[in-house]
Amino acid sequence: MTAAFKQPPEQTASSVAAPHIVLRGVAVDFVLERRRNRVLDAIDLDVRKGDFVSLIGPSGCGKSTLLKVMAGLISPSEGSVTVAGLAPQHAVKARLIGLVFQEATLLPWKNAIENAAFLLMVADGAVSRAAAFDRAAAMLRLVGLEGAEKKMPSQLSGGMRQRVALARSLALDPEVLLMDEPFGALDAITREEMSECLLEIWERTGKTIVLVTHSIDEAVYLSREVHVMGANPARIIETLPIHLPFPRNGESYANPAFKAAEHRLRGLLIESHAKRRT
Ligand SMILES: Nc1ncnc2c1ncn2[C@@H]1O[C@H](COP(=O)(O)OP(=O)(O)O)[C@@H](O)[C@H]1O
Ligand SMILES: [Mg+2]
Repeated sequence: MTAAFKQPPEQTASSVAAPHIVLRGVAVDFVLERRRNRVLDAIDLDVRKGDFVSLIGPSGCGKSTLLKVMAGLISPSEGSVTVAGLAPQHAVKARLIGLVFQEATLLPWKNAIENAAFLLMVADGAVSRAAAFDRAAAMLRLVGLEGAEKKMPSQLSGGMRQRVALARSLALDPEVLLMDEPFGALDAITREEMSECLLEIWERTGKTIVLVTHSIDEAVYLSREVHVMGANPARIIETLPIHLPFPRNGESYANPAFKAAEHRLRGLLIESHAKRRT
Protein backbone atom coordinates (compact mmCIF):
# COMPACT_ATOMS: atom_id res chain seq x y z
CA MET A 1 0.00 0.00 0.00
CA THR A 2 1.23 3.47 -0.75
CA ALA A 3 1.36 5.84 2.17
CA ALA A 4 0.01 8.96 0.46
CA PHE A 5 -3.41 9.64 -1.00
CA LYS A 6 -4.59 12.19 -3.46
CA GLN A 7 -7.81 14.08 -2.91
CA PRO A 8 -10.35 11.79 -4.57
CA PRO A 9 -11.81 13.30 -7.73
CA GLU A 10 -15.31 12.52 -6.39
CA GLN A 11 -14.65 14.70 -3.38
CA THR A 12 -14.93 18.09 -5.06
CA ALA A 13 -17.27 20.49 -3.31
CA SER A 14 -19.95 20.23 -6.02
CA SER A 15 -20.16 16.46 -6.29
CA VAL A 16 -20.34 15.65 -2.58
CA ALA A 17 -23.38 17.91 -2.27
CA ALA A 18 -25.92 15.30 -3.42
CA PRO A 19 -27.58 13.59 -0.44
CA HIS A 20 -27.07 9.84 -0.49
CA ILE A 21 -28.28 8.74 2.93
CA VAL A 22 -31.01 10.82 4.56
CA LEU A 23 -32.48 10.27 8.03
CA ARG A 24 -35.24 12.47 9.37
CA GLY A 25 -36.57 12.34 12.91
CA VAL A 26 -35.47 8.74 13.36
CA ALA A 27 -36.30 7.10 16.68
CA VAL A 28 -35.88 3.45 17.68
CA ASP A 29 -37.64 1.88 20.67
CA PHE A 30 -36.77 -1.55 22.02
CA VAL A 31 -39.20 -3.23 24.36
CA LEU A 32 -37.51 -4.98 27.28
CA GLU A 33 -39.53 -6.65 30.03
CA ARG A 34 -42.62 -4.79 28.80
CA ARG A 35 -40.85 -1.47 29.18
CA ARG A 36 -40.30 0.68 26.15
CA ASN A 37 -36.72 1.81 25.93
CA ARG A 38 -35.95 4.62 23.49
CA VAL A 39 -32.48 3.89 22.16
CA LEU A 40 -32.34 6.46 19.37
CA ASP A 41 -34.23 9.73 19.29
CA ALA A 42 -34.66 12.60 16.84
CA ILE A 43 -31.81 11.59 14.56
CA ASP A 44 -31.43 13.84 11.53
CA LEU A 45 -28.52 12.92 9.32
CA ASP A 46 -27.44 13.67 5.76
CA VAL A 47 -24.56 11.79 4.23
CA ARG A 48 -23.54 13.13 0.85
CA LYS A 49 -22.61 10.93 -2.07
CA GLY A 50 -18.96 9.99 -2.00
CA ASP A 51 -18.47 11.26 1.54
CA PHE A 52 -16.64 9.52 4.37
CA VAL A 53 -18.29 10.05 7.74
CA SER A 54 -17.80 8.45 11.14
CA LEU A 55 -20.18 7.87 14.03
CA ILE A 56 -18.51 7.94 17.42
CA GLY A 57 -19.99 7.71 20.91
CA PRO A 58 -19.87 5.80 24.19
CA SER A 59 -20.34 2.06 24.10
CA GLY A 60 -24.02 1.08 24.21
CA CYS A 61 -25.23 4.49 23.01
CA GLY A 62 -26.86 3.17 19.84
CA LYS A 63 -24.20 3.41 17.09
CA SER A 64 -24.78 -0.13 15.81
CA THR A 65 -28.54 0.39 16.01
CA LEU A 66 -28.22 3.51 13.87
CA LEU A 67 -26.09 1.69 11.31
CA LYS A 68 -28.63 -1.17 11.23
CA VAL A 69 -31.38 1.37 10.53
CA MET A 70 -29.39 2.58 7.51
CA ALA A 71 -28.86 -1.05 6.43
CA GLY A 72 -32.58 -1.87 6.65
CA LEU A 73 -31.95 -4.43 9.42
CA ILE A 74 -34.00 -2.43 11.95
CA SER A 75 -37.09 -0.40 11.03
CA PRO A 76 -37.30 2.90 12.89
CA SER A 77 -40.18 3.38 15.33
CA GLU A 78 -40.49 6.96 14.08
CA GLY A 79 -39.09 8.97 11.21
CA SER A 80 -37.82 8.13 7.75
CA VAL A 81 -34.67 6.77 6.13
CA THR A 82 -33.62 6.67 2.49
CA VAL A 83 -30.48 5.39 0.83
CA ALA A 84 -29.97 6.56 -2.76
CA GLY A 85 -33.63 7.65 -2.65
CA LEU A 86 -34.86 4.17 -1.69
CA ALA A 87 -36.07 2.56 1.50
CA PRO A 88 -33.02 0.75 2.95
CA GLN A 89 -34.49 -2.72 2.34
CA HIS A 90 -34.89 -1.85 -1.35
CA ALA A 91 -31.40 -0.39 -1.47
CA VAL A 92 -30.06 -3.68 -0.07
CA LYS A 93 -31.99 -5.66 -2.71
CA ALA A 94 -30.57 -3.37 -5.39
CA ARG A 95 -27.09 -4.16 -3.99
CA LEU A 96 -26.44 -0.52 -3.20
CA ILE A 97 -25.35 -1.27 0.38
CA GLY A 98 -22.33 -3.25 1.55
CA LEU A 99 -21.82 -4.17 5.20
CA VAL A 100 -18.62 -4.86 7.11
CA PHE A 101 -18.69 -5.88 10.77
CA GLN A 102 -16.06 -6.37 13.46
CA GLU A 103 -15.88 -10.11 12.78
CA ALA A 104 -14.92 -11.13 9.26
CA THR A 105 -17.31 -14.14 9.37
CA LEU A 106 -15.53 -15.99 6.54
CA LEU A 107 -16.56 -19.51 5.63
CA PRO A 108 -13.68 -21.57 7.12
CA TRP A 109 -13.85 -24.29 4.44
CA LYS A 110 -13.50 -21.83 1.56
CA ASN A 111 -10.28 -20.10 0.55
CA ALA A 112 -9.82 -16.32 0.26
CA ILE A 113 -11.02 -15.96 -3.32
CA GLU A 114 -14.00 -18.29 -2.79
CA ASN A 115 -14.98 -16.23 0.24
CA ALA A 116 -14.50 -12.97 -1.66
CA ALA A 117 -16.71 -14.25 -4.51
CA PHE A 118 -19.33 -15.77 -2.22
CA LEU A 119 -21.78 -12.87 -1.69
CA LEU A 120 -21.69 -11.94 -5.37
CA MET A 121 -22.53 -15.50 -6.38
CA VAL A 122 -25.38 -15.66 -3.84
CA ALA A 123 -26.73 -12.24 -4.80
CA ASP A 124 -26.48 -12.66 -8.55
CA GLY A 125 -27.63 -16.07 -9.77
CA ALA A 126 -26.80 -15.06 -13.34
CA VAL A 127 -23.12 -14.37 -12.72
CA SER A 128 -20.79 -17.13 -13.92
CA ARG A 129 -18.28 -18.63 -11.50
CA ALA A 130 -15.44 -17.36 -13.73
CA ALA A 131 -16.80 -13.79 -13.77
CA ALA A 132 -17.38 -13.83 -9.99
CA PHE A 133 -13.82 -15.08 -9.43
CA ASP A 134 -12.39 -12.42 -11.78
CA ARG A 135 -14.21 -9.76 -9.82
CA ALA A 136 -13.16 -11.29 -6.47
CA ALA A 137 -9.52 -11.43 -7.63
CA ALA A 138 -9.64 -7.75 -8.58
CA MET A 139 -11.11 -6.87 -5.16
CA LEU A 140 -8.46 -8.93 -3.36
CA ARG A 141 -5.84 -6.92 -5.29
CA LEU A 142 -7.59 -3.70 -4.23
CA VAL A 143 -7.39 -4.67 -0.55
CA GLY A 144 -3.71 -5.65 -0.89
CA LEU A 145 -4.14 -9.44 -0.86
CA GLU A 146 -2.75 -10.33 -4.26
CA GLY A 147 -1.04 -13.72 -3.95
CA ALA A 148 -3.21 -14.84 -0.99
CA GLU A 149 -6.15 -16.01 -3.13
CA LYS A 150 -5.74 -19.68 -2.26
CA LYS A 151 -5.08 -19.22 1.45
CA MET A 152 -7.64 -20.63 3.87
CA PRO A 153 -9.05 -18.29 6.59
CA SER A 154 -7.10 -20.22 9.24
CA GLN A 155 -3.87 -19.29 7.41
CA LEU A 156 -4.70 -15.57 7.42
CA SER A 157 -4.05 -13.00 10.16
CA GLY A 158 -6.99 -11.07 11.66
CA GLY A 159 -6.19 -8.06 9.47
CA MET A 160 -6.02 -10.21 6.33
CA ARG A 161 -9.34 -11.89 7.17
CA GLN A 162 -10.90 -8.47 7.52
CA ARG A 163 -9.44 -7.50 4.13
CA VAL A 164 -11.15 -10.55 2.61
CA ALA A 165 -14.44 -9.50 4.24
CA LEU A 166 -13.99 -6.04 2.73
CA ALA A 167 -13.25 -7.55 -0.69
CA ARG A 168 -16.38 -9.70 -0.36
CA SER A 169 -18.53 -6.58 0.18
CA LEU A 170 -16.73 -4.62 -2.55
CA ALA A 171 -17.30 -7.46 -5.03
CA LEU A 172 -20.98 -6.44 -5.04
CA ASP A 173 -19.91 -2.94 -6.06
CA PRO A 174 -22.23 -1.22 -3.57
CA GLU A 175 -22.54 2.58 -3.64
CA VAL A 176 -22.54 2.70 0.15
CA LEU A 177 -20.29 0.89 2.62
CA LEU A 178 -21.60 0.68 6.19
CA MET A 179 -18.85 -0.42 8.57
CA ASP A 180 -19.39 -1.27 12.24
CA GLU A 181 -16.10 -1.12 14.15
CA PRO A 182 -14.46 -3.11 11.35
CA PHE A 183 -10.98 -2.82 12.87
CA GLY A 184 -12.09 -3.13 16.50
CA ALA A 185 -10.56 -6.57 17.02
CA LEU A 186 -7.18 -5.72 15.49
CA ASP A 187 -3.95 -4.52 17.11
CA ALA A 188 -2.93 -0.87 16.85
CA ILE A 189 -0.46 -1.18 13.97
CA THR A 190 -2.77 -3.41 11.92
CA ARG A 191 -5.57 -0.87 12.52
CA GLU A 192 -3.38 1.87 11.06
CA GLU A 193 -2.56 -0.29 8.03
CA MET A 194 -6.26 -1.01 7.54
CA SER A 195 -7.07 2.70 7.81
CA GLU A 196 -4.60 3.43 5.00
CA CYS A 197 -6.07 0.61 2.95
CA LEU A 198 -9.59 1.95 3.46
CA LEU A 199 -8.61 5.51 2.48
CA GLU A 200 -7.01 4.18 -0.69
CA ILE A 201 -10.13 2.19 -1.55
CA TRP A 202 -12.30 5.23 -0.91
CA GLU A 203 -10.04 7.31 -3.16
CA ARG A 204 -10.16 4.77 -5.96
CA THR A 205 -13.84 3.87 -5.81
CA GLY A 206 -15.59 7.04 -4.60
CA LYS A 207 -17.94 5.01 -2.38
CA THR A 208 -20.00 6.64 0.34
CA ILE A 209 -18.62 5.29 3.62
CA VAL A 210 -20.19 5.41 7.08
CA LEU A 211 -17.86 4.09 9.76
CA VAL A 212 -18.78 3.34 13.36
CA THR A 213 -15.71 3.52 15.54
CA HIS A 214 -14.64 3.85 19.16
CA SER A 215 -11.35 5.34 18.12
CA ILE A 216 -10.97 9.11 18.01
CA ASP A 217 -7.75 8.80 15.97
CA GLU A 218 -9.42 6.56 13.40
CA ALA A 219 -12.42 8.88 13.08
CA VAL A 220 -10.25 11.97 12.57
CA TYR A 221 -7.73 10.33 10.23
CA LEU A 222 -10.35 8.83 7.93
CA SER A 223 -13.36 11.11 7.94
CA ARG A 224 -14.42 14.33 6.35
CA GLU A 225 -17.08 14.65 9.05
CA VAL A 226 -17.60 13.04 12.46
CA HIS A 227 -21.02 12.72 14.12
CA VAL A 228 -20.75 12.47 17.88
CA MET A 229 -23.52 10.59 19.64
CA GLY A 230 -24.75 11.07 23.19
CA ALA A 231 -26.58 8.44 25.21
CA ASN A 232 -29.99 7.87 26.80
CA PRO A 233 -31.49 8.37 24.30
CA ALA A 234 -28.85 8.57 21.64
CA ARG A 235 -28.89 11.77 19.71
CA ILE A 236 -26.27 13.33 17.51
CA ILE A 237 -24.89 15.95 19.85
CA GLU A 238 -22.40 17.46 17.42
CA THR A 239 -21.27 17.18 13.83
CA LEU A 240 -17.62 18.06 13.45
CA PRO A 241 -16.13 18.72 10.01
CA ILE A 242 -12.51 17.51 9.85
CA HIS A 243 -10.37 20.15 8.19
CA LEU A 244 -7.38 17.84 7.85
CA PRO A 245 -5.96 18.26 4.36
CA PHE A 246 -5.50 15.49 1.81
CA PRO A 247 -3.34 13.61 1.09
CA ARG A 248 -3.59 12.03 4.52
CA ASN A 249 -0.68 9.88 5.64
CA GLY A 250 1.51 9.23 8.68
CA GLU A 251 2.29 12.95 8.94
CA SER A 252 -1.39 13.85 9.29
CA TYR A 253 -1.33 12.81 12.95
CA ALA A 254 1.00 15.73 13.76
CA ASN A 255 -1.08 18.30 11.84
CA PRO A 256 -2.62 21.02 14.07
CA ALA A 257 -6.01 20.31 12.42
CA PHE A 258 -5.72 16.68 13.60
CA LYS A 259 -4.85 17.77 17.13
CA ALA A 260 -7.71 20.30 17.24
CA ALA A 261 -10.31 17.76 16.07
CA GLU A 262 -8.95 15.11 18.46
CA HIS A 263 -9.15 17.57 21.38
CA ARG A 264 -12.72 18.59 20.54
CA LEU A 265 -13.89 14.97 20.14
CA ARG A 266 -12.24 13.92 23.38
CA GLY A 267 -14.08 16.71 25.24
CA LEU A 268 -17.43 15.75 23.70
CA LEU A 269 -16.94 12.05 24.49
CA ILE A 270 -16.01 12.78 28.11
CA GLU A 271 -19.22 14.81 28.40
CA SER A 272 -21.20 12.05 26.77
CA HIS A 273 -19.75 9.35 29.07
CA ALA A 274 -20.51 11.46 32.14
CA LYS A 275 -24.16 11.83 31.08
CA ARG A 276 -24.41 8.10 30.53
CA ARG A 277 -23.59 7.46 34.18
CA THR A 278 -26.21 9.88 35.54
N1 LIG B 1 -32.35 -6.10 19.72
C1 LIG B 1 -32.31 -5.38 20.85
N2 LIG B 1 -33.27 -5.48 21.80
C2 LIG B 1 -33.23 -4.75 22.92
N3 LIG B 1 -32.26 -3.84 23.20
C3 LIG B 1 -31.28 -3.69 22.29
C4 LIG B 1 -31.24 -4.44 21.07
N4 LIG B 1 -30.15 -4.07 20.37
C5 LIG B 1 -29.52 -3.14 21.11
N5 LIG B 1 -30.20 -2.90 22.26
C6 LIG B 1 -29.83 -1.92 23.29
O1 LIG B 1 -29.74 -0.67 22.65
C7 LIG B 1 -28.65 0.08 23.16
C8 LIG B 1 -27.72 0.48 22.03
O2 LIG B 1 -27.08 -0.68 21.51
P1 LIG B 1 -26.03 -0.58 20.30
O3 LIG B 1 -26.68 0.10 19.17
O4 LIG B 1 -25.51 -1.94 20.09
O5 LIG B 1 -24.91 0.38 20.94
P2 LIG B 1 -23.40 0.67 20.46
O6 LIG B 1 -23.22 0.07 19.11
O7 LIG B 1 -23.28 2.17 20.49
O8 LIG B 1 -22.50 0.05 21.48
C9 LIG B 1 -28.00 -0.78 24.23
O9 LIG B 1 -28.50 -0.38 25.47
C10 LIG B 1 -28.44 -2.18 23.87
O10 LIG B 1 -28.52 -2.97 25.04
MG1 LIG C 1 -21.92 -1.42 18.47
